[in-house]
Amino acid sequence: MNGSAGSVGPMRVLVTGGSGLVGRAIEHVIKEESGAREEETWIFLSSKDANLMSAEETRAVFQKHRPTHVIHLAAMVGGLFRNMRQNLDFWRNNVFINDNVLQAAHEFDVVKVVSCLSTCIFPDKTTYPIDETMIHSGPPHETNFGYAYAKRMIDVQNRALFQQYGRRYTAVIPTNVFGPHDNFNIENGHVLPGLIHKTYLAKKEGKPLQVWGSGRALRQFIYSLDLARLFLWVLREYDEVEPIILSVGEEDEVSIKFAADAVVEALGFEGDVIFDTSKADGQFKKTASNAKLRKYLPDFEFTPFRAAIKETCDWFVANYDSARK
Ligand SMILES: NC(=O)c1ccc[n+]([C@@H]2O[C@H](COP(=O)([O-])OP(=O)(O)OC[C@H]3O[C@@H](n4cnc5c(N)ncnc54)[C@H](OP(=O)(O)O)[C@@H]3O)[C@@H](O)[C@H]2O)c1
Repeated sequence: MNGSAGSVGPMRVLVTGGSGLVGRAIEHVIKEESGAREEETWIFLSSKDANLMSAEETRAVFQKHRPTHVIHLAAMVGGLFRNMRQNLDFWRNNVFINDNVLQAAHEFDVVKVVSCLSTCIFPDKTTYPIDETMIHSGPPHETNFGYAYAKRMIDVQNRALFQQYGRRYTAVIPTNVFGPHDNFNIENGHVLPGLIHKTYLAKKEGKPLQVWGSGRALRQFIYSLDLARLFLWVLREYDEVEPIILSVGEEDEVSIKFAADAVVEALGFEGDVIFDTSKADGQFKKTASNAKLRKYLPDFEFTPFRAAIKETCDWFVANYDSARK
C-alpha cells in the first residue's frame, strides 16, 4: 500500500450509501475486478443498516464496524426537478448526514474519509472551466441551492478537521454519474436514467419520446464504474485535503440532445423525439476541468460514452422489474 492510507495495517473500509449507484459500482469493482487487496475488509451500508440522519445510529454503526477508512456516499440525491421542489429537505438531510458521518469518523479515529461532492454545487456565475479552487466563489444555481450548500459544507468541515486535528479527510467532485443501479425514476431522477426509462417506455408503447428541455444544455457524464476505479485510487493514493474533480475532459462534454441520441440508438427506438422547451434546462453548462486528475493519472482510460450508455441500457432492460424507478 502506498501513501498515508496504508499506515494503519489492514484496512477496514466502510462505504456509506453502499446500496446506491456509486456504492454498487465500487462493490462491483472490488468484487469483480480484484479491486480488494489482501486483508482488506469492505463493508457496504444502506439506510437499512443505519439512518445516518441520526447521530446515535451513525455512532452505533461506526462502533459496530470500527472502520479505518470511510468512503462517504450516502446523501439525499435527486435530479433538477426534485431539487427545485425540495431545497429545504436537501439542505437539512444532507447537513445532518454529513456532520454525523464526519464527526463519527473523527471520534472513532478513522484515518481517512473520502466524501462526495458534485460539480453541480459550483457557483452559477463563473468562468469556465470550473476547477477545485472555485467551490466557494459565489452562490450556486438557484434550482439546487439546498443540496449545493450542504455539499459545500463537507469541504468546510474537512478543512476545519485538518486545521484543528490534522485529519486528512478529503472529497471528490464527480460530474453527472450514470450506470447500472441508478435511480431510473422519471420525475425525481437525473437526466440520463430518466431518459433511458422514458425511451424504454416510448418504445414499448409506440409513442414519441418527450425530452424535457431544449436539449441544448451541456454536461460531462462519468460512468459509475470509471468513477469507482478512481475512488479506489483516491482512497489509497491521493493525499490532499483539497478536493479533486473526477471527470472526463472538457472536450468530452456533450449536449442533452447528443445523450438522448445515444440512448435512442442503444435501445433501438425508432419513433419521434420531441424536445419540450416548456420544461427547464437547468444550468446551461458546468464545464469542469480534469487537469488536476490528469496531472496525477495521465493515462487513465474512461469508458467511451456510447459504450457506457449501451451497457447501462442493457442492464436496465435486463433488470427492468427490480430496477429503482
Ligand atoms: N448521481 C450523480 O450523478 C452524482 C453526481 C455527483 C455526485 N454524486 C454524489 O455521489 C454520492 C452517491 O450518489 P448516488 O448517485 O450513488 O446516490 P443514490 O443511488 O441515490 O444512493 C444514495 C445512497 O445513500 C443512502 N442513503 C440515503 N439517505 C440515507 C440515510 N438517511 N441514511 C443512510 N443512508 C442513506 C441510500 O441508501 P438506501 O439504498 O437504503 O436508500 C443509498 O445507498 C452522493 O453523495 C451524491 O451526492 C452523485
